[in-house]
Amino acid sequence: MNETPHQAECGRENEAGMTSAADRPQGGFTDSSAGNDAGHGQQPATSARESATPALAAVNISKMLGSRLILDSVSISIGRGELKVIIGPSGAGKSTFLQSINCLIPPDTGQIFLEGRELNMHDKHDLRMFRQQVGMIFQDFNLFDHLSAVDNVSVALRKVRGMSRKDAHKRAMSELDRVGLANRAKLYPAELSGGQKQRVAFARALAMDPKVLLLDEPTSALDPELVGEVLEVIRYLAKGGMTMLMATHQMDFARALANEIIFMEQGKVIESGSPAELLAPGSNTRTMDFCSRLDLEL
Ligand SMILES: Nc1ncnc2c1ncn2[C@@H]1O[C@H](COP(=O)(O)OP(=O)(O)OP(=O)(O)O)[C@@H](O)[C@H]1O
Ligand SMILES: [Mg+2]
Repeated sequence: MNETPHQAECGRENEAGMTSAADRPQGGFTDSSAGNDAGHGQQPATSARESATPALAAVNISKMLGSRLILDSVSISIGRGELKVIIGPSGAGKSTFLQSINCLIPPDTGQIFLEGRELNMHDKHDLRMFRQQVGMIFQDFNLFDHLSAVDNVSVALRKVRGMSRKDAHKRAMSELDRVGLANRAKLYPAELSGGQKQRVAFARALAMDPKVLLLDEPTSALDPELVGEVLEVIRYLAKGGMTMLMATHQMDFARALANEIIFMEQGKVIESGSPAELLAPGSNTRTMDFCSRLDLEL
């Protein structure tokens, strides 16, 4: 267990965990699909119709596992360029929900929409196309141990996108450069730190030009000193207009960057709102209550 989830602090405004690691990403992320370099909280310049359509929406997602209702009619909607954060106690259903969105855990009922278009969860082609556009970052990196960093990034470009070995390598190197790891490209996962492995996972996801990234506690498996470098990548992505839904306990980070915090418990969304609303000093929200209980565990 690393420190980060339970050293989350709810009351302070700062750049949580930001480090000056030598190999942090160089320059800001630019997301061609977002079409601008809008900072946090700003919507990309789109037509009124486009901006009214959420980048991603999940409607009434329910899921039974065994005899338990793990997700109970969960709905969320994320506008283009927004970062939304899911928090909640262990077992709330955060991971199940994120994995339901791309049907790694197929929902029993509910609908998923990407840019207004409904995903046909039973159509393999539709699902494959959806997963290419909705990247996922897992807590434990999910890298191929037998492939170097650059090959971990390029393999999907070759196998899914059909790129030539040379082109895939070039693109993979550019993505590794973006997360500050060009000089580690030939190393294997076993030769990389946890933070570096997670940054390779980001490079791999970004190489697919995703419209949305789903992040499941991307820093919670990391040693405390490595959290900052991964948060920094996420921060660059947020500032560059990447649309993201992230489960995390990094409350300082959420407070500084999230457009909305979604508090889940027992498979339900209990409350949601802006960090200013949910984390206002003295506010009587479930989110504040949860955060203060985390602090008590320190
Ligand atoms: N395959 C399964 N069969 C039965 N129950 C499961 C299965 N997978 C998960 N669960 C249960 O679903 C609930 C939600 O789990 P989930 O991993 O989504 O929670 P979480 O909010 O991500 O928790 P954490 O903060 O610990 O990661 C838990 O009670 C868990 O025990
Ligand atoms: Mg989880």
